[in-house]
Amino acid sequence: MPIKKLSVRNVRNLTDVSLQPSSHINIIHGANGSGKSSLLEAIHLLGLTRSFRTNKLNHLIQAQQQSCMVFAQLDAMGTGAVQPVGVERTLEGDARIRYAGDNIDLTTLAELLPIQVINSDTFQILEGSPTIRRQFVDWGVFHTDPSFIRLWRACRRVLKQRNSLLKCGKIDPNIRKVWDREFINYSEQVNTLREAYLALLKPEFDAILDDLLGGLKIDLRFSSGWDKKRSLDQVLEDSFERDLRQGFTSAGPQRADLRVKVDGHNASERLSRGQKKVVVSALKLAQGALFYKLNSRACIYLIDDLPSELDRHHSQLFCNYLEKTVNQCFITCVDKASLSGFWSEQTDLCFLEVQEGALSTG
Ligand SMILES: Nc1ncnc2c1ncn2[C@@H]1O[C@H](COP(=O)(O)OP(=O)(O)O)[C@@H](O)[C@H]1O
Ligand SMILES: [Mg+2]
Repeated sequence: MPIKKLSVRNVRNLTDVSLQPSSHINIIHGANGSGKSSLLEAIHLLGLTRSFRTNKLNHLIQAQQQSCMVFAQLDAMGTGAVQPVGVERTLEGDARIRYAGDNIDLTTLAELLPIQVINSDTFQILEGSPTIRRQFVDWGVFHTDPSFIRLWRACRRVLKQRNSLLKCGKIDPNIRKVWDREFINYSEQVNTLREAYLALLKPEFDAILDDLLGGLKIDLRFSSGWDKKRSLDQVLEDSFERDLRQGFTSAGPQRADLRVKVDGHNASERLSRGQKKVVVSALKLAQGALFYKLNSRACIYLIDDLPSELDRHHSQLFCNYLEKTVNQCFITCVDKASLSGFWSEQTDLCFLEVQEGALSTG
């Protein structure tokens, strides 16, 4: 059970809110503008020190306030050993993260609190740029392989150097050789980890999609960011003149993508809105399922407006799946009835109502 107690101060319209969530399913309902998404924002802030919808801190921090804070009692490893965790952000941009009495950095926090968000932005996995899909893949690789973050940072550092040399328009061939060797080394390692992760993710995704929407066959194809028929060394050589003209490196793991296809067509163009919602949700849920398989730990799912775009039958299938998992879920909806009646009596279920920034159970 990850979050046992939660306190939120000055996050959007939540001035001072405390709750003891269920370890499993929490349904947060209330009228438009009552503060449901703000509560999810607060939990996201606790796990990642930032909002899931805005980069501007003045939108996250309550108007007229200088800072916001989220605090929780956390059973990070699921062993029953609870530690306090807290995140404070100020309008100036400072972030303070405390865990078990110590200051910790964001990477450590992210490892402690694996958070998955499913909201209207999640459609971007299908409709948005490759950057979004790389972020999706890299969430999983980060939580699967401890060496990934170091390799990926090193790869980006070398890429930056290579690009600034390209921008100068002239590179000493010996210097180029040194940077290329470094770049190829890191790129191949990053790529190997991404490919390995996706090979594990695909069967999880297929099984979950079948649960949520039987009959739809989706093909996930990873592309490394360079033509794999040639070595990266050869690709860099072949594209060097063009890269020099453009002032940046056109091939490498910074261009990787995950293509999501249905019957050979882009899923973003073929699927209905509801089908898209199920596909992107299945992708996110597959990450949690794999995370649990590999680490024996649960994820925290923040699912904003679960029933939107889904008919009652598909909302029910979604809820039935969540009920089978060990994840701690915070699910919002406008109308309580839209998510009632789906749950078995044994499920640890908590209904919370939000009214003008205040919470009550029921
Ligand atoms: N920085 C802020 N300070 C105070 N209130 C805010 C801030 N940002 C948003 N709000 C208000 O918080 C309320 C709750 O928003 P939200 O949580 O998105 O509602 P919903 O319950 O529909 O998800 C809205 O009325 C919104 O205008
Ligand atoms: Mg909302």
